[in-house]
Amino acid sequence: MMDDRMVSQDATLEEHSLEYSLRPQTLQQYIGQDKVKENLEVFIQAAKMRQETLDHVLLYGPPGLGKTTLAAIIANEMGVQLRTTAGPAIERPGDLAAILSALEPGDVLFIDEIHRLHRSIEEVLYPAMEDYCLDIVIGKGPTSKSVRLDLPPFTLVGATTRVGLLTAPLRDRFGVLSRLEYYNEEQLTEICLRTAQILEIGLEQDAATEISRRARGTPRIANRLLRRVRDFAQVLGKDTISASLAKEALDRLQVDKLGLDHIDHKLLMGIIEKFRGGPVGVDTIAATIGEESHTIEDVYEPYLLQIGFLQRTPRGRVVTDLVYRHFNMEVPKE
Ligand code: ADE
Repeated sequence: MMDDRMVSQDATLEEHSLEYSLRPQTLQQYIGQDKVKENLEVFIQAAKMRQETLDHVLLYGPPGLGKTTLAAIIANEMGVQLRTTAGPAIERPGDLAAILSALEPGDVLFIDEIHRLHRSIEEVLYPAMEDYCLDIVIGKGPTSKSVRLDLPPFTLVGATTRVGLLTAPLRDRFGVLSRLEYYNEEQLTEICLRTAQILEIGLEQDAATEISRRARGTPRIANRLLRRVRDFAQVLGKDTISASLAKEALDRLQVDKLGLDHIDHKLLMGIIEKFRGGPVGVDTIAATIGEESHTIEDVYEPYLLQIGFLQRTPRGRVVTDLVYRHFNMEVPKE
């Protein structure tokens, strides 16, 4: 069975580099997130006019909305190098110290999943962000001493799907906090058309709309669906994707009219069948459907909350009437 997310996990190297080449390089090429973009434009221009580094930026929001892309654009627009790492990749304070001391003046350091940084590592980050310096402790016990090392000025761009998990001291050290929102159908359509041009495949406007409707407000999913639909087109010997071809391919990919796939279905039906629609805790849902709680919270749930299919209550998650209607089921009375 083909599933969009399984495909993504097994994405080939070629697909990864393809995804990279599809990414816009400048704010002007970047579609959507207008508020974030307009603000960044001002902050970047102002920093350049003052010949300063850009203040630290925290980008947060659901996966696939363009946080990594924006980090790369920020570096590109500032005319500096981008260094990339991720919270879970930094295991010891020394790892972060090594990364920081290798930076060149003005560089952008991108830390993905910054909420997963260990507390002891976060503490290395505070003076680095605030005063561009590293406090290094040499030796142990009563004879240990602290040495301060200067760092070049740099911009930290942090990305997280879970801003609520960031500690207050870390959050407060960012000068710019930008929340990325789900994209609307028009914006996703524009993104699909742009991608089709880069991939050199014909894509009819209606076909782009069809893909966008099922992309859960997420460019990464739109682009992935487009690549899968392109596979169908290629095998059928068509060089243009029509709306009917897109529809058929998407149905075969088991992505429904709202972009929900079989894991969403399993999650929603699980709550209905086993817990009479809820409320039920996320850990219980996770155990019943065999997924990790944090995957449910980070990946599946945000969109289901956004489209009003799930509600969060103090006693757990509840499915709404919309879910029963979506599955052509009778809405329970109470
Ligand atoms: N490709 C993926 N996300 C994009 C965006 N926001 N704008 C343009 N192209 C994209």
